[in-house]
Amino acid sequence: MDEKKVMLSGIQPSGDLHLGNYLGAIKNWGARAEEFDCYYFMADMHTITVRQNPADLRRRTLEQLAQYIACGLDPEKNTLFIQSHVPAHAELGWVLNCYTMFGELSRMTQFKDKAAKHKDNINGGLFTYPALMAADILLYQPDYVPVGEDQKQHCELTRDVAQRFNHIYGDVFKIPEPYIPKAGARIMGLSAPESKMSKSMPEGCVFLMEKPEDIQRKFKRAVTDSDTERCVRYDPAAKPGVSNLMNIYAAVTGKTMPEIEAEFDGQGYGKFKPAVGDAVIECLRPIREEASRILQDKAYLESVYKAGAEKASYVANKTLRKVYKKIGFVAR
Ligand code: TYM
Repeated sequence: MDEKKVMLSGIQPSGDLHLGNYLGAIKNWGARAEEFDCYYFMADMHTITVRQNPADLRRRTLEQLAQYIACGLDPEKNTLFIQSHVPAHAELGWVLNCYTMFGELSRMTQFKDKAAKHKDNINGGLFTYPALMAADILLYQPDYVPVGEDQKQHCELTRDVAQRFNHIYGDVFKIPEPYIPKAGARIMGLSAPESKMSKSMPEGCVFLMEKPEDIQRKFKRAVTDSDTERCVRYDPAAKPGVSNLMNIYAAVTGKTMPEIEAEFDGQGYGKFKPAVGDAVIECLRPIREEASRILQDKAYLESVYKAGAEKASYVANKTLRKVYKKIGFVAR
């Protein structure tokens, strides 16, 4: 019997992958396949809570898969799949909707943010999204869910829903732990360090596939702080811009904050900003090159997502059958 612990996570292909997704999530997924049984997916079902252009969604879903592989997720060792290819997600999502409370969903900050941004389309899916996310997770009985800081609240709701369900029906679901990195859990926008880096602010967002010269331009223009000190010192409250750049530099190079402060001691932001840009460019270069190469091979990508969906379905259906039996559905 396989005794490995299980890890699972997903990203919405609603935009191109960016440095926040990489440092907050994907970087933490790689190189764990020896230790964990790993499931990573493209959360396409979640993206339609906001209107998508169909052709772009299709393209980005495949690009995301190529980028997962380029980031070091070997499809032979990790189960990589497209969420909508495993119908158990929608099925368990419905069940868990009935075990998730209106009040709980109303408190979700991602719902509040997105509802404020898309006032003309505050649909039911946007509201019940966390129940589908709970299904994504609980189907695979994972021990850990590696995500950035902003997904912690959804992971906590998942635990509450699982505990509620287990309390009624016995131990059906394993209670998963969010797994949040020390450096990189919350990367802020380069043009607005008070908001998290996201594709909705492209000038402050560094995309994985972006050209080096464009990345460097964004770092050179990164907003730094207006304090008189102008030195590289980690202090997120007083110096959010510089601290964010230090956080990025730390996540990319593995250096500690005191090491970074020492490295740039006596130098202004003018030296520091391009140095962070260079470190990011070198970190992303092999990923960009490898992803572009993999994207040319559509047959390979198809073989990966088909095998992934088959393996994921096998595991997911086992949990779903158990749930259906517990709640009183007649076996198929
Ligand atoms: P999503 O698609 O918004 O983001 C994907 C992952 O990237 C992390 N992230 C960041 N980390 C650090 N700094 C940032 N600026 C930043 N922006 C994004 C997120 O924390 C996340 O880990 N609901 C999820 C997708 C999802 C999921 C799941 C995740 C659906 N089902 C099941 C885990 C398990 C979401 O919208 O993430």
